[in-house]
Amino acid sequence: MVHAPGTKPSEGPHFYGRRRGHTLGPRRRERLDDVLGRYGFVPSDLPDGTPQALFDSPRPIWLEIGFGAGEHLAAQAAAHPDVGFIGCEPFRNGVATLTRLIEEQALTNIRVFHEDVRLLLPALAPAVIDRVFLMFPDPWPKKRHHRRRFVTPENLDQLAHVMRNGAALRFASDHPSYIRWTLAMVRAHGAFEWTARCAADWRDRPADGAPTRFEEKALAAGRPPVYLDFIRCQRPRLEGA
Ligand SMILES: C[S@@+](CC[C@H](N)C(=O)[O-])C[C@H]1O[C@@H](n2cnc3c(N)ncnc32)[C@H](O)[C@@H]1O
Repeated sequence: MVHAPGTKPSEGPHFYGRRRGHTLGPRRRERLDDVLGRYGFVPSDLPDGTPQALFDSPRPIWLEIGFGAGEHLAAQAAAHPDVGFIGCEPFRNGVATLTRLIEEQALTNIRVFHEDVRLLLPALAPAVIDRVFLMFPDPWPKKRHHRRRFVTPENLDQLAHVMRNGAALRFASDHPSYIRWTLAMVRAHGAFEWTARCAADWRDRPADGAPTRFEEKALAAGRPPVYLDFIRCQRPRLEGA
């Protein structure tokens, strides 16, 4: 169910976020097209569902869902040149900013799915992802919008299916209700274990972390973020279903 990047899919899960912000100038548009031409992909580029095929040598695959402007993704990619990164983001202006970081830092280990990750996950083979980042996902604070949150039993099923045993899932948020929601959903799901042993494990930005734009906004507004690290620990329910 692939469609032109940045346009609205005619079917599939509904994406409630913004796809576009202010109009990109010609230079940014050109760079976006150029970098996406080299590093963008769609699920049909992975006929057997293995993202390894996107890279020229075997490597662990890390996935960032909703990378926003891409600061965290670029920093992780620079720090881990032997890892293959997949970034998913439907917001065109965010992807445009990431393409600037890719160009400026000459990063060659990021591949971009300029779309909703829920269109990619079903196309992936089991246990092909080694790490997942979900950094400051949209909190959808109103109660009637809670079902728009990314953390749901269905999406956890999909993540558990594509993550190998022992793979790590990091969720970060400054929104207390979404943090509680996520802890409850993930614990109830059964395929993930929360690794925290003391308060510093969820209060402090992990040593292997990198700042994100929304994290900086939260800190500036006096809303301390929380970092939840989980490990994919047993076969997902999907396979036993
Ligand atoms: C609140 S922003 C956070 C951006 C960035 N992670 C940060 O911390 O600065 C959430 C981002 O997730 C993206 N997003 C929301 N749902 C998504 C989905 N299903 N697949 C991929 N990206 C998604 C949105 O477009 C938005 O850019």
